[in-house]
Amino acid sequence: MPVSRIKYTSATICYWSGTGNSYRVATWMGEIAEKNGLETKVLSFDKTKSKKILFAQKNNFIGLVFPTHGFTAPWHVVKFAWSLPRGNSTNVYCTATRAGLKCGSVFIPGISGSATFVISLILLLKGYKVNGTMSVDMPSNWYSLHPIQSQRSHEAIIERAQHKVSGFMEKILSNSKVWFTGNNLYELILGLLLSLVSLGYVLFGKFFLAKLFFANSRCDGCGLCEKHCTVNAITMRGKDKRRPYWKYNCESCMKCAALCPHNAIEAGHSWGVILYFITALPASTYIFSLLGADLRNSEIIQTHWLGDVLNIIYFYPAIFVSYFVFNLLIRVPFLNYLFTHTTMTHLPFWGRYREPKTNLKDLL
Ligand SMILES: Cc1cc2nc3c(=O)[nH]c(=O)nc-3n(C[C@H](O)[C@H](O)[C@H](O)COP(=O)(O)O)c2cc1C
Ligand code: SF4
Ligand code: SF4
Repeated sequence: MPVSRIKYTSATICYWSGTGNSYRVATWMGEIAEKNGLETKVLSFDKTKSKKILFAQKNNFIGLVFPTHGFTAPWHVVKFAWSLPRGNSTNVYCTATRAGLKCGSVFIPGISGSATFVISLILLLKGYKVNGTMSVDMPSNWYSLHPIQSQRSHEAIIERAQHKVSGFMEKILSNSKVWFTGNNLYELILGLLLSLVSLGYVLFGKFFLAKLFFANSRCDGCGLCEKHCTVNAITMRGKDKRRPYWKYNCESCMKCAALCPHNAIEAGHSWGVILYFITALPASTYIFSLLGADLRNSEIIQTHWLGDVLNIIYFYPAIFVSYFVFNLLIRVPFLNYLFTHTTMTHLPFWGRYREPKTNLKDLL
């Protein structure tokens, strides 16, 4: 629908997307801006880096679109926002896509929590004029955690999202501020309540999830996953049989899994259980006893703050060494088979996700 009172001459919609949801939302926004006569570009974050000049133009208006991870903005998005040039009052808005569900005829919203607020705050500090934020439900792509929904539910959720995006864009293009909405209030309250969970995700969860990935026997070592990971979190290892190895900076965005031509990337659930027990070992108790502490006073040891610090420090090398060993083990065909067939993804009702209208080339 054409919008009156537009004061912009061009629009740049920048997105970061794992499985196509944020890409799809960015393309809808681009289409609406274009229909309203703006010279429009829809660019992935990587392509935007070389076009930083766009961010300082007065009549250009910028949209940032990205997924929610752990009830907040992914670290990669935080870094991207920090790396932008100073804003010079450039008009910006933020949109987080989140995991909506459909149960029967009821739509259940996801929770993007602090995602849009964190990025808006960074942009405000950098001198941008943030005109509004929105969180929009798209199908969940987090199939390393839970099964995905049916195709019909996905279609219904996506159709609903498209309506919501149209309404938001009409307001933004007609220079209205989009801050005081029920949706933003819902996210603000949940973002505050879940802020500790988000911190836990950023400090621990993100690293744990990254170390669940492995390639099953269908992997032919083509290196596509390594080449197209936007944060360079994959390195191919091995002389004869090259296989992907996931590094610490993986954002668990699921892009590599969505673009692998052989569906060879697994999130190892049985391995996750083993890894949990390894990383949850009470390392501090052992360290205290090595240092000669009296274990009869274990209550004191367990409640001492130093114990928590030692357990936290232990988490990182424990996860790194375990994953290194795991990667050697899964080169043994029998063990690879075992771990592959004890991932939930192989259950008939679980499935994998890529936004239905997003082609492989859109993600590259
Ligand atoms: C690691 C990870 C964490 C996620 N955390 C949340 C969350 O906290 N809240 C939520 O509503 N959706 C969450 N999701 C779902 C995605 O945000 C959602 O499906 C999004 O639309 C994916 O967009 P993309 O395809 O552009 O990456 C998470 C997904 C992943 C992979
Ligand atoms: S894209 Fe798939 S087949 Fe290619 S190297 Fe990665 S995991 Fe292996
Ligand atoms: S390794 Fe895969 S899941 Fe991790 S950031 Fe790269 S593309 Fe995303």
